[in-house]
Amino acid sequence: MDIVILGSGRGSNANAILKAWKDGQLGKAQVKAVISDVLDAPILNIAKSYQVQARPIEINANTAKISEGDTNKLIELTNEFKPKLIVLAGFMKILSHSFIQEYESRIINIHPSLLPSFKGLNAIKRAFECGVKISGCTVHWVSKGVDEGKIIAQLPVRVMDSDTLDSFTQKIHAAEHFLLPEVISQLSFAEN
Ligand code: GAR
Repeated sequence: MDIVILGSGRGSNANAILKAWKDGQLGKAQVKAVISDVLDAPILNIAKSYQVQARPIEINANTAKISEGDTNKLIELTNEFKPKLIVLAGFMKILSHSFIQEYESRIINIHPSLLPSFKGLNAIKRAFECGVKISGCTVHWVSKGVDEGKIIAQLPVRVMDSDTLDSFTQKIHAAEHFLLPEVISQLSFAEN
């Protein structure tokens, strides 16, 4: 199961996937490339540190949703690696319908809340400020609605009275770093 990771930033989830892969925990999955719409994103350096192709792509930074023109470029680049699975790991652009159609049922996303609660941006901060006592993270299939596809797995995280936004954020990330490789490993076994 060949994988392409798409991300825009820090790359801690990509790092968790790449580490699990190098540690032999992803079954027959192979990470072929990391693509980023942010040309100097740390996620690209993380890919390089695992000797995985790091491929920046210029996408109009001024719109949340990727245009049809940029989508064609993104499909062309992604197709170079013929992925069975595309993993959105902190990819902060909204994919166009034609990209989702091109890879129907082959794109998963990690989101830092228990969907359907706290869809969209700044989910960790919004959940914390809302005073929820349980939040967590979700891995789901990507569909046309943002953060709306079928849920594959979730991991809950409790909010303790002693938590600050920082400590809560760290707990959510730790849960993500466990859950995402775990889901990929299960999908890879289901593939065989
Ligand atoms: C992660 O917390 C991920 O769940 C979130 O961005 C962060 C990326 O961190 N994604 C979304 O909010 C998507 N809606 P990372 O670059 O360190 O993996």
